[in-house]
Amino acid sequence: MCAFQIAIDGPAGAGKSTIAKKIAEKLSFIYIDTGAMYRALTYEVLDRKIAIDNIEEIIHIAKNCNIAFKNKDVFVNNNKVNDDIRSRRVNENVSYIAKIPEVRNILVDRQKKIASNNNIVMDGRDIGTKVLPNANLKIFLTASVEERALRRYNEIKCNNSNVDIESIRSEIVKRDAMDESREHSPLKKAINAVTIDTTGLTIKEVVENILILVRKQCINI
Ligand code: DC
Repeated sequence: MCAFQIAIDGPAGAGKSTIAKKIAEKLSFIYIDTGAMYRALTYEVLDRKIAIDNIEEIIHIAKNCNIAFKNKDVFVNNNKVNDDIRSRRVNENVSYIAKIPEVRNILVDRQKKIASNNNIVMDGRDIGTKVLPNANLKIFLTASVEERALRRYNEIKCNNSNVDIESIRSEIVKRDAMDESREHSPLKKAINAVTIDTTGLTIKEVVENILILVRKQCINI
């Protein structure tokens, strides 16, 4: 197998993490969920009760906190935060932190370092445009807002009967708007990315489509 970098970008709830994880498993590549890094930092900021507009302190925390992936777990300063980083509070605040340019530079540098010399699948918003501009394969995953809201709703309602789909939908729309309109590294399809609209497709179908593209690229190298 050739050394290979796969970048997967797309809006909230498009299925990036699920798909990226499966592709990495199939190919025995490393998988890095960069959204989890922004979420982990947001969790740490909220946990320390730092105001979301205290940019200086947030940058200080970004520089000094240790975000690590071990097996399938995410750690901030050695605390396992798998569930905490998926909370509603983190969902509502993460885009504010992700738009701070200094924070992005710190996390992007770490992401580039992890990716160097590794076969990797990385997902996020700026992987094809900024983190891995020379990735062998770039995918832009999308799905209709209705389908993305429904997927999140089905995920959340198993643990929480108190959710309504309309508020999930408006949270997704708000987060998309912030991620697409921010000044630094907005969510954008890389010029040479392949768009896959996952509306109505199963996870298996999307994974198979991407594996076909991987095989094609390997032949072309
Ligand atoms: O993929 P996700 O929903 O877990 O990402 C959480 C937030 O982090 C998302 O709203 C935008 C931000 N993010 C980013 O700005 N750049 C990335 N590479 C990954 C995520």
